[in-house]
Amino acid sequence: MSKIPKHVSIIMDGNGRWAKQRGFERLEGHKAGVESVKAAAEFAAENKIDFLSLFAFSEENWTRPQDEVSGLMELMIDAIIGERKTLLDNNIKFLVIGDETRLSETLISKILELKKITSSNTGLTLIVFLSYSGKWDILQAVTKYLEKARSSELNNNEPLSAELFETFLSTRGIPDPDLLIRSSGEQRLSNYMLWQCAYTEFYFTDVLWPDFRKNDFKRALDIYSERERRYGKTGDQINKIK
Ligand code: FPP
Repeated sequence: MSKIPKHVSIIMDGNGRWAKQRGFERLEGHKAGVESVKAAAEFAAENKIDFLSLFAFSEENWTRPQDEVSGLMELMIDAIIGERKTLLDNNIKFLVIGDETRLSETLISKILELKKITSSNTGLTLIVFLSYSGKWDILQAVTKYLEKARSSELNNNEPLSAELFETFLSTRGIPDPDLLIRSSGEQRLSNYMLWQCAYTEFYFTDVLWPDFRKNDFKRALDIYSERERRYGKTGDQINKIK
């Protein structure tokens, strides 16, 4: 693997289908998916990827049956408590991004605790997107920007640039994903980091998330390293920069 991406993001999909194929409840698929989360985090740390982000629960997922939603939230709490030692042992920093106002107090307190105890870790940054959507992110950024502009904390004569706008996004300080992986054969962005994925390379695999292991992650990186990223320039221009 020649080119290691700085930030890899994963839309973990296919837990429900994995469970259905086995005649299990959907939640069993999500539980099995936690093992894949561990494998992915381990692989990212071993391969010196700086940021690994995971789309764990979208704003739209709140409309799922109540027992699945509460089961998933309990699973998050258990995973946060259960993986505490793994994160500390592997120098991993933990972050959560999303609309935290919709999360339970217990979950919020567990998240805060894990964020705090891993805040000085210097290895992989593991980001879990929870109660997140790309449109929500853009709207909350616009709202924050307008609040600041109205209170004259900003220089109103300065036109709003992409760089300034990005400081209001919930991903502030995190580089845009270089590679986005989506499992289970679906090929769409599903209201994930809409702004941040402007130049992201996409890799789709038919593997269902609970079956996703290090060799699947490696395949995605191998494909990524063969791609030429041009950012709107011509191939010749890119070769000159190299
Ligand atoms: C999508 O599969 C998966 C989810 C909505 C949940 C993903 C959550 C986990 C793997 C739990 C643990 C996460 C962390 C970060 C500890 P789906 O239910 O949409 O599957 P389907 O499309 O086959 O129905």
